[in-house]
Amino acid sequence: MHRTNTCGELNLSHKGTYVTLSGWVQRSRDLGGLTFIDLRDRYGITQLAFNLETHTELCLKARKLGREYVIKIDGYVAERESKNLKIPTGEIEIVVENLEILNESKTPPFTIEDNTDGGDELRMKYRYLDLRRNSLKNNLLLRHRMAILTRNYLDNEQFIEVETPYLIKSTPEGARDFVVPSRMNPGQFYALPQSPQTFKQLLMVAGYDRYYQIVRCFRDEDLRADRQPEFTQIDCEMAFVEQEDILNTFEGLARHLFRSIKNTDPGSFPRMPYSEAMRLYGSDKPDIRFGMQIVEINDFVKNKGFKVFDDAELVAGINAKGCAAYSRKDTDALTEWVKRPQIGATGLVFIKYNEDGSAKSSIDKFYTPDQLLELLKNFNAEPGDLILILAGAPSKTRKALGELRLEMGNRLGLRNPDIYAPLWVVDFPLLEWDETTQRFYAMHHPFTSPKPEDVALLETQPGNVRANAYDLVINGVEIGGGSIRIFNKDLQKNMFSLLGFSDTEAQEQFGFLMNAFEFGAPPHGGIAFGFDRWCAVFGGHDSIRDYIAFPKNNSGRDVMIDSPAEISGVQLDELSLKIIPTEKKS
Ligand code: AMO
Repeated sequence: MHRTNTCGELNLSHKGTYVTLSGWVQRSRDLGGLTFIDLRDRYGITQLAFNLETHTELCLKARKLGREYVIKIDGYVAERESKNLKIPTGEIEIVVENLEILNESKTPPFTIEDNTDGGDELRMKYRYLDLRRNSLKNNLLLRHRMAILTRNYLDNEQFIEVETPYLIKSTPEGARDFVVPSRMNPGQFYALPQSPQTFKQLLMVAGYDRYYQIVRCFRDEDLRADRQPEFTQIDCEMAFVEQEDILNTFEGLARHLFRSIKNTDPGSFPRMPYSEAMRLYGSDKPDIRFGMQIVEINDFVKNKGFKVFDDAELVAGINAKGCAAYSRKDTDALTEWVKRPQIGATGLVFIKYNEDGSAKSSIDKFYTPDQLLELLKNFNAEPGDLILILAGAPSKTRKALGELRLEMGNRLGLRNPDIYAPLWVVDFPLLEWDETTQRFYAMHHPFTSPKPEDVALLETQPGNVRANAYDLVINGVEIGGGSIRIFNKDLQKNMFSLLGFSDTEAQEQFGFLMNAFEFGAPPHGGIAFGFDRWCAVFGGHDSIRDYIAFPKNNSGRDVMIDSPAEISGVQLDELSLKIIPTEKKS
């Protein structure tokens, strides 16, 4: 028998019991006549004690054990002399009678400790060692619990989990596809699904009115902290529902997770139209843990001779509370920050509301002290506050202010990871105009239905049509998004034509779905949550990487298995593929 107990469960109630434990050597300490070893498994750490005097041979054997050796011991549970009340097993130790080395270990390339000395790349290469550390282990345990709770909740609500295929067909919308060559169909490719969107809709046509799947999705897009090329969705669809039904059902799921995992009840989630989110927060995923809303000040600042403001379509700002003491160096650094290409502002205007009640600004030349004080009222400013103002094209200016707001929120400690502020953003535009390609794109996806009251605008002002689409945002992170779908063939055809598809192209790409709509498709809608993101938010981190057991690095590589990699000439031949070498740069 390898073990009678785990390394996390023994305590004083087991005193005197003879036990067998197996695990990894975390560390060892020699104290004169005694050697102590911390034995670790996924459940915890148990101290082993070896006595040089009474068990000389055993103790000498123990002294030779290296870090991460796998051992099995037998011994008695005894009360410790110096107790460690920080861990559940801290009051006992095992007086070892028998020691077996199950496997040796090379010295690990980094320490398997909470504060490891290993760099990112090294830990990715030895991910199985990194996964031994508490932080990653706890992340995976959290992920597991979130998955179980989700399945229980949805099962209780009559949802059934159905698996949909991974080898599907490439479509031109959305992100880039990962493709897989077909050996049996030379020159043809499958695509890996970016989401099971069309399949879940077909399941609604098939009558399975509540579907879900915790499913892997694949998108060939640039990586960021909250993006991986393969990630997991909690993907859901319901038939015979309206937007309200979906929001209520999944607010229920979110509340269930909040209660069970975070031990809080977030109450009912506020709802905010997209237009308001953009106007007040400069983002479609506002972090509403703090205020600092954007204030538009066109009416107060125009026509006073300051050309930058006069020429701008929008002049707006935020109130950084308590920052009036910022030095010239600080404000210069902030100006540089907004000028970075990621933010793209051309400059930043400041108004300081001094503690003595006077106002000082970088545009004093154009505004009298009284005008400045009047302006400050718009921001509900108090002495000690600093107003930051940007000007320019509306959408760009709002987005830049949105970023600046988050930055100031970070600096002022307003984004407390222990506080959760969920929010539904609703009424997204159906379409988004792209200047480069001079065409509309579906803001969510082409299967999203317009709001019935806006359908008439499809012909005349497609850009102003709102969609029955919604996102769940928690603390400024887009956790999920979905929509009520089109279920009428003609409307779906019309949508494809607005997106620039010819009838033939639409039929070729999505004929299977439009044909299905002719066989009794019920009204339906759904949502998908980014499971990795939700885990990271509940774990209090920005990056999803450490909530995925075996993630890719920032170049999309798995450095542990060294993938992607070349394949052999034989494989290429079988797949009817030929590599055309790119010219070597000198
Ligand atoms: P959407 O494209 O908004 O909707 O995706 C749903 C959610 O998936 C998460 N997500 C990601 N997470 C990690 N890495 C990525 N690369 C990544 N891309 C997206 C986000 C996002 O909110 N089929 C529709 C849903 C529907 O309409 O029902 C869809 O996929 O948290």
